[in-house]
Amino acid sequence: MSRITINNLSKKFDEKDVLNNLNLEVESEEMVALLGPSGCGKTTTLKLISGLLAADKGDIKLDGNSVIDLPTEKRGAVLVFQENLLFPHLNIEDNIAFGLKMAGVDRKIREKRVEELLELVNLPGYQKRMPNELSGGQQQRIALARALAINPKVLLLDEPISNLDANLREEMRELIRKIHEEENMTTIFVTHDREEALLIADRIAVMKDGNLEQIGTPEELYRSPVNKYVADFFGQANYIRGCKIGDEFYPDCQNNNIEANNFEKKLVMIRPEFLHLSKKEDSEADLMVLKAKVIKRSYAGERIYYKVEAEKLKKPLRVIDYNLSNYQAGEEVFLHIPLDKAAYLDE
Ligand SMILES: Nc1ncnc2c1ncn2[C@@H]1O[C@H](COP(=O)(O)OP(=O)(O)O)[C@@H](O)[C@H]1O
Ligand SMILES: [Mg+2]
Repeated sequence: MSRITINNLSKKFDEKDVLNNLNLEVESEEMVALLGPSGCGKTTTLKLISGLLAADKGDIKLDGNSVIDLPTEKRGAVLVFQENLLFPHLNIEDNIAFGLKMAGVDRKIREKRVEELLELVNLPGYQKRMPNELSGGQQQRIALARALAINPKVLLLDEPISNLDANLREEMRELIRKIHEEENMTTIFVTHDREEALLIADRIAVMKDGNLEQIGTPEELYRSPVNKYVADFFGQANYIRGCKIGDEFYPDCQNNNIEANNFEKKLVMIRPEFLHLSKKEDSEADLMVLKAKVIKRSYAGERIYYKVEAEKLKKPLRVIDYNLSNYQAGEEVFLHIPLDKAAYLDE
């Protein structure tokens, strides 16, 4: 069990900020996916936590105790690299037991531990094989077993699935999740793949250019992104610019009260599947209803995609309808926008 707390962590390479005051908290036994495009600083973050790189500024704590001045082997955090880096001239048993041997662990105990770990990664009996006799996916599992040999509290996985064929990914994802749970690990799983992050993690931390944009459950990131970057990363989004006064929202700020009131300029984000079209204007609380015209209808089997132009809005909106309604291009309709399902972003 181990809680990871990262405070204001910063790192420069060649005078260029690669990590910029990163703050992140991972609960004990939680799995957080660190998600962001290539070059945003994910690997650097893992190397700083494991102690393979020294930070310029900031602190890293495990269970409240700073580890920033401890050498790698005293931190209790292991990093499994994207390229598995097994020792090519050692057999699987010696690869897995390498850390234990360095620590002076008795041979009998080493052999027992290797046996347990090979069971855990579903490769029992592989002790005497050489790395080049194993497939890429099997080598990745041995790299995992080697990392676990020294009983770490924190597992840092750098894109462990990205190099595998699509059909092996699900199997590896399930294995990682099983190990995380059975061994009571605190895990950071790095990926640039949104779907991988959604499928495996308890929470996702979205990174961009060395900054943490948002951390939350998959649902929070989808429903309540804090900015356009996160909103677009997690799916199709409609944006409406306008003014908010209390619970009311006015597109393009066209309301008599705007001048007199305390209003905030906001960008509303709403997903296409939350919008719907009707012939009648009937409105409920939390719903904004606008006159609109269908400009495009596309049939996609179990759903229909619409593009509609609404009065007062500058840009067309996208609607996804699972009720298979039948409005044609050019038809006048009412567009219902449930504001309780919208996210308000700062401008
Ligand atoms: N040892 C290094 N020396 C100089 N620049 C580096 C070094 N390691 C990483 N970088 C740079 O830091 C940035 C972040 O790298 P990295 O953490 O590997 O990103 P990610 O893992 O998200 O793809 C990149 O621009 C990369 O080129
Ligand atoms: Mg990387």
